[in-house]
Parts: sequence; C-alpha cells; structure tokens
Amino acid sequence: MKIYTEKQQIVTAIDAFKDEKQTLGLVPTMGALHNGHLALVEKALKDNDKVVVSIFVNPTQFDNKEDLVKYPRTLDQDVKLLETLSKEHILVYAPTVDDVYDGNTVSETFDFDGLEFEMEGKFRIGHFDGVGTIVKRLFDIVKPGNAYFGEKDFQQLAIIKKLVEKHHIPVNIIPCPIYREPSGLAMSSRNTRLKPDYKEAAPFIYKTLEAAKMRFGTKSAIEVTQWVEKQFESHGLLKLEYFIIADTTTLKTVKRKLNKKSYRAFIAVYADDIRLIDNIALN
Ligand code: PAJ
Repeated sequence: MKIYTEKQQIVTAIDAFKDEKQTLGLVPTMGALHNGHLALVEKALKDNDKVVVSIFVNPTQFDNKEDLVKYPRTLDQDVKLLETLSKEHILVYAPTVDDVYDGNTVSETFDFDGLEFEMEGKFRIGHFDGVGTIVKRLFDIVKPGNAYFGEKDFQQLAIIKKLVEKHHIPVNIIPCPIYREPSGLAMSSRNTRLKPDYKEAAPFIYKTLEAAKMRFGTKSAIEVTQWVEKQFESHGLLKLEYFIIADTTTLKTVKRKLNKKSYRAFIAVYADDIRLIDNIALN
C-alpha cells in the first residue's frame, strides 16, 4: 500500500488515475483506526475506483492541548488494518503538520449558519473552525468525487455539508451509520484510553440514549432531558456534560415537539478525563 507524506506526491498520483477517468473517494480520519473507520472505508471502496484515507491528528481542532498530546497515534497498525481491506485501491495520506498547513496553523473562521454554536460548539471553542479548515484543505488537495463521514459525529457531518454548500465544493458528502461495540458503546479512537472500570461503565451512555428514545414517545423533550440528567447524577463514574434533544436539521434544542419534524438526542459524557460523544435518532 502506498503511503504519502507530502501533498505534492499524492496530488501527482491522483492526477495520474484521474486522467484514466477513475473515480475517487476520500475518508478523512485522525487515525487510531477501528471498525467504525473501516466501515467508512469499505463503503468508499464499493462506490469508487480509488480511495484516499487521510490520517492526520489535526492540531487546529483541539481546544484541549492535553487531549491533542494524548491522542493515540498508531500509523503502522492503521496501515495493516487498511491492507486487510485492499492494498491496491487505497492510498494513505499521512502528512506532517507542516506539509498540510505550510507553517500556518491558524484556523480559518467559518459561518456555518449557526450550526457551529450548538452543542459541541458551546463546549469546544474553535473546534469547528479547525475541522472546517482541515477538511477544506483535504478537499482541495485530493479533489474527491465522494467523501465519507460518520453519523457518530453528527454535528460535524452537518457542518461539512454546510461547508460544501456554502463554498460550492463539488463533492458528494456520504453519511455513514454509527458503528458500535457489541455492548452498544459507540466506537471511538478515545475508547482505547479508557481504564477497565470506565470501559465497563461506558455502555451506560448508549443504554440511556435508547431509554430516552423510548420515553420520547410519550414525554416532552424537557421531561426526557431531566430524566437523563437524573440518571447521571446518581452515576459514580460517568459525568454528563450535556444531553440535548435537537431538531435534526437546525441542531437547535427542541422546546415543543411537532409531529412532522425529525429529532435526535445528543450526549457528551466524561469518563475520567476522556470525553465521549454519542447520538440517536428519536423518530
Ligand atoms: P476521526 O474521529 O478519526 O473520525 C473519522 C471519521 O470516522 C469521521 O467521519 C467520524 O464520524 C467517523 N467515525 C468515527 N467513529 C465512528 C463510529 N463509531 N461509527 C461511524 N463512524 C465513525 O472526525 C474526525 O476524525 C476529524 O474531525 C476529521 C473529520 C478527520 C477532521 O480532522
């Protein structure tokens, strides 16, 4: 499998097979790959002749420097996992910070029509400017026809759709469902850092989301939110940062439920110093 660390090299490789009219998909990641990432790559391999998987721990999207330092970096293992899917059709782009940013790691500022001020945007200041900056650069370098993003980061997915729409970037954004451990815990690169008792406790997050979904059938959004908050108050290990029921399109917190609208519940929880997020469709 070819691993490119410099954008000029990968651009040359991409140009060569674009001349042959081959289709190209992009799966942006920060590495420490797990089955959730691999499901995105598998979908991309089905849809496209070639797939670029970028592996880059993007400093501009980390509001917490300690999280950036501790973020797992496992390139050799990542490459081995990707090779189990295809050696021939995958190109890995694993650049240095300098290669991507040309010495300028200040994020662009974006207007995502307010999506950036909800949920994660309130708790991770500057995060979505960092995500927008790197994804726009990756689109510019790779110029994919299709790009794949997980619903695990539902707000990020909505923001990328907005980025593409507002900047007229010619790429299809393909959403992919959340991939879970058998326990229900959403797969995440950060799960590898969970100490055993926290790992055992963490499936409570999804169990509570499922229970909230059941309750949402008969109770108001406020009642369900208060119920979830109560479940976490009495939990010894997991600390709730937020639970929100939001309109799926605007991501604004729901005050009054309307039958024809689509809703989703979003949650962020601390397990020790590790921040975990998850979400579920409610109707
Ligand atoms: P990362 O957290 O590595 O995730 C890369 C992609 O995999 C994202 O689209 C994410 O939503 C998806 N993903 C992660 N866990 C998943 C799961 N359990 N099920 C389904 N999809 C999952 O998200 C990022 O990196 C970065 O912000 C990035 C977009 C690469 C920009 O730096």
